[in-house]
Amino acid sequence: FRGQQIFITGTTGFVGKCVLEKVLRELQDVQTVYILIRAKKGASPQQRAQREIATSPIFNLLRSTMDDFDAYFEKKVVAVAGDINQDFMGLSQEDLARVSSSVNFLIHCAANVDFNERLDGAITTNCRGPLRMMRLAERCPNLKAYVHVSTAYVNCNRPSGSLVAEELPLCQSDGEQVMKEIEKLAVPELEARTRALLQAEKYPNTYTFTKAMGEKLLHKYHGNIPVAIVRPTIIGAAWREPAPGWVDTVSAGGALFLSGGMGFMPVQSGDPELVGDQIPVDLVTNAILVAAAEACSKGPGFFRIYHSGSSTRNPVRWSLCAEAVARFWKKRPSSKSQLKCQYTMVKNPLVYHWRYLRLVSLPALALGVYSKLSSSEQVKKKSAMFNKVMKRSRTLAETFHHFVNNEWFYESKNLLAASASMPDRDRSSFPVDPAPINWRQYLDDFSWGLQRFILRDDVAP
Ligand SMILES: NC(=O)c1ccc[n+]([C@@H]2O[C@H](COP(=O)([O-])OP(=O)(O)OC[C@H]3O[C@@H](n4cnc5c(N)ncnc54)[C@H](OP(=O)(O)O)[C@@H]3O)[C@@H](O)[C@H]2O)c1
Repeated sequence: FRGQQIFITGTTGFVGKCVLEKVLRELQDVQTVYILIRAKKGASPQQRAQREIATSPIFNLLRSTMDDFDAYFEKKVVAVAGDINQDFMGLSQEDLARVSSSVNFLIHCAANVDFNERLDGAITTNCRGPLRMMRLAERCPNLKAYVHVSTAYVNCNRPSGSLVAEELPLCQSDGEQVMKEIEKLAVPELEARTRALLQAEKYPNTYTFTKAMGEKLLHKYHGNIPVAIVRPTIIGAAWREPAPGWVDTVSAGGALFLSGGMGFMPVQSGDPELVGDQIPVDLVTNAILVAAAEACSKGPGFFRIYHSGSSTRNPVRWSLCAEAVARFWKKRPSSKSQLKCQYTMVKNPLVYHWRYLRLVSLPALALGVYSKLSSSEQVKKKSAMFNKVMKRSRTLAETFHHFVNNEWFYESKNLLAASASMPDRDRSSFPVDPAPINWRQYLDDFSWGLQRFILRDDVAP
C-alpha cells in the first residue's frame, strides 16, 4: 500500500471506521485516504468527519503514539461529500476528477443495514450502491482493487446446518429484473411483492436478499476490475486492536448482549445449542485489507469471495454467549442499569412463552396497575420505561429469530490461503484467523466495551 490512495465508504459506521483506523496506524506509507461522507442532521460531511471520526476514541492508541495525531489525520485523510444513492456516489465534479485520477483502492463498507428496510430503499443502497461504485471504479485508470463488504448471510436461505463455500449466493432472482420491477411499484403492491419474493427465495428480510442480489450484480458487471467480496458473519467488538472490547455500535450481537446485560431481554427464543458465528471487527478489518492486497496482486478480471467468520475455525454456541454475558453483567452491572441482568435463550416454545409471561408480561401488567393506582411520578415513569424497553427488545428478538434458530458453517479457505501467501511480518500484522480466540475472555471484553464505549460508564478494563 506504500504511496497508494484509498477511497473508503461507510467510515462513520462501525466497520469503515475500523478500516480507516487500521490503515492510518499500520499503513502509514499510504499517501491519501478519501472518505465518502453524506451530510446528515444538519452537519456537513467535514463536520461529521471531525465530530464522528477524528475525535473518536478508536484513535486513542494512535494518538498516544504520535506527537501530533490531528496534523497527521488532516494530512492523510480527505473527507469528500457524497451519497451512495446518487450517481458517481454524489461526488462533485471536482472531487470526482480528483478521486478518479488518483485512487488505487476502493473499499465499499457503506450499506443499508436495516434488516427490514422497504425493498425499494434496500435495493437503492445495497444493489445500486455497489454498481455505482463499479461505475466509479471504471473511471479510475490507476485502480488496483475494489473491495465490496457483503455479509455471510447472503446464504441464510440455505438449510440450517449447511456448510457454505465461498461462492455466489443461491438466489435465483436476477438483480436487474427485480430492481426494474420493484422501482415501478406503488407501496401496497410493493409490500405484497416483497413478501412473495422473500418467501420464494427463502430470505428472512430485505437486507440479506438485497445484499445477495448486490453480489450477483457485481459478478455480472465487474469486467476487468479486480473485485474482492468480503463476507463477515456477525461482527462484534474488537478482539485485540485497537483495544480489546472496542465497539461503537449497538447492532448485531452487541444489541443482543447489551439488552441481555441491561435486563431488557430476560428470555430470548432461540436454540442455545446452535453455533452463532461471531467475528471480531479487527479480524474483519484485516480480512478486508488482505483481500484488497490479493485482488491487487492477481490483477484484471479477478473475482473472489472471502468469508470472515468463526464457525469452521473456532465455533461458539449461543449458550456460551448468553451464559458469559449474563455472568459478566451480574458481577459488574452498569451504572445505568435499572433492571437486574437476566439473559437466557430458550428453544422450547412452551418454556419460552411461560418464562416470557413470568418475566415480562406479568411484571408489566403489575407495574401498569400499580402505576394507575399510585400518584408517584417515579412509578409511572418506571412502568412506561419497562414497557418501552421490553417492546424494543421483543422487536430485536424477532429480527434475530432466523439467526438464532438456524446455523451455518462458513468455509474460509480463500481468506486463509490469501493470508498464508503473505510474508510473515504482514501475516502477523494482519491476522485473520479466529482459531486462537478464547471466547469467554472475548465476551467479557465485549461486555466491558459495551459499558465503556456505548453506555459511557467509567469502568476499568
Ligand atoms: N455489523 C455487522 O454485524 C455486519 C455483519 C456482516 C456484514 N456487515 C456489512 O458490513 C458493512 C458495514 O456495516 P456496519 O456494521 O459498519 O454498518 P453501520 O455501522 O450501520 O455503518 C453503515 C455506514 O454506511 C453509511 N451509509 C449508509 N447509507 C449511505 C449513503 N446513502 N451514502 C453514504 N453512506 C451511507 C453510513 O453513513 P451514515 O453515518 O451517513 O448513515 C455508515 O457510515 C455493511 O456492508 C454491512 O452489510 C455488517
